[in-house]
Amino acid sequence: MDVFKSFKSEKEKTQSVDNFFTPSKPISSPENLRGRNEEIAKILGALTTPGMHCMIYGDRGIGKSSLALSTLEGGKEHEILPEFIFQYRCIKRTSFKDIIEKPAIFIDSSYKANKIESVKKYGARAKLLDLFSVEGSREEKIIIEKEELTANKAASTFQNLDSILLIDEFDVVSDEVKHEVAEFVKQLSDLGSPFKVLIVGIGSDGEALIAGHQSVIRCMHEIKLPRVEDKYLEEIITNGELGLSLNFTPAIKERIIEISSGFPYFTHLLCKESSEQAIRENKQTIDDEVFSKALMQAVKNTEGQLKRCYDKASTSSRTDMYPKILISAAKFNNEQFTVKQWIEQINSDHNIELTYGSMNNYTGKLTKPSRGNVLMLVRRGVYKITDPRMPSYILMCHLAGS
Ligand SMILES: Nc1ncnc2c1ncn2[C@@H]1O[C@H](COP(=O)(O)OP(=O)(O)O)[C@@H](O)[C@H]1O
Ligand SMILES: [Mg+2]
Repeated sequence: MDVFKSFKSEKEKTQSVDNFFTPSKPISSPENLRGRNEEIAKILGALTTPGMHCMIYGDRGIGKSSLALSTLEGGKEHEILPEFIFQYRCIKRTSFKDIIEKPAIFIDSSYKANKIESVKKYGARAKLLDLFSVEGSREEKIIIEKEELTANKAASTFQNLDSILLIDEFDVVSDEVKHEVAEFVKQLSDLGSPFKVLIVGIGSDGEALIAGHQSVIRCMHEIKLPRVEDKYLEEIITNGELGLSLNFTPAIKERIIEISSGFPYFTHLLCKESSEQAIRENKQTIDDEVFSKALMQAVKNTEGQLKRCYDKASTSSRTDMYPKILISAAKFNNEQFTVKQWIEQINSDHNIELTYGSMNNYTGKLTKPSRGNVLMLVRRGVYKITDPRMPSYILMCHLAGS
């Protein structure tokens, strides 16, 4: 069998797994979203309160996009939220105009389809909207760039539009764009517009995500997304078990939940690899044997940035100490720890006695970009693992024996 045929037959066998375990895709239907009822209610509350907008922030992989998408989907389905929802995922170079382009095009085409009504509604802005015409030639677009489409103008253009704009990955845009969006939201709020903005991004506090714009904070409901509780992670597993007619032994379930440490990303990743492995082997039960192979696959298929960072931190031609001290650091999960506590942990895990002097050498290196910035200095003598997902990945590598 050539590579294409074997790939295809393998893929067909394991395709159903993708209906239940989706590590690389946010969840967009509320029935697959676990343990977020409280947050859903808060978002719906904000988006249906005049003058209020909403912001979701938290760690990477915690489930921000899934929460936003599922809430909007469910809200639309139950006619709580408006029918028209626009989405924009930011990249570094994103400009304010990129963010508001979709609703602008939407208004423009309705203006074309029903001239009289829209002229009445949006007549005064016809000129501005023309600038966003889908058919606009490249030359026209360049003219748009020169034209100043301010946050103020955009807000008054959208003020009658009953709709929601989801702006995801907002953390990556420049402070200048954050400022414009903040101004835009504040204007919408002052105008009492039904046009609502839902901002989503990585951050440890809401103020940082919006670059400290105090004026907008008053009209922004902030939701800090916590880790998913273990009982809900278990529901992700049992839901897949039922749907795929597979079963995970209780010990393996516990292991998966332990590794996940509240990050549904790892639950989905480990369950996907386990299920695919079981299906390939024509087995119904995910036992230790299936799971140990799945673990190796999961380590290989983990999201790139995490993997690269760990590789930089752990690889050394001179010593095999790095993976050892890293697994001990991972035991503190995302809590900060002192060098003294770390030395004790290393001693109890590996029976190795390290001196403060040698720890100095390791901490010096592990806080540098050349070693993936895996550690960060909290204050003198106190450290923390930088990426909150890293302890899960380190544990996975450790259990996979790599
Ligand atoms: N509440 C949840 N219940 C079940 N799975 C979830 C939940 N939240 C997120 N996931 C899964 O976790 C992974 C990461 O979610 P995602 O929304 O992309 O995170 P973020 O946007 O915070 O980086 C995805 O595989 C998604 O399917
Ligand atoms: Mg996301």
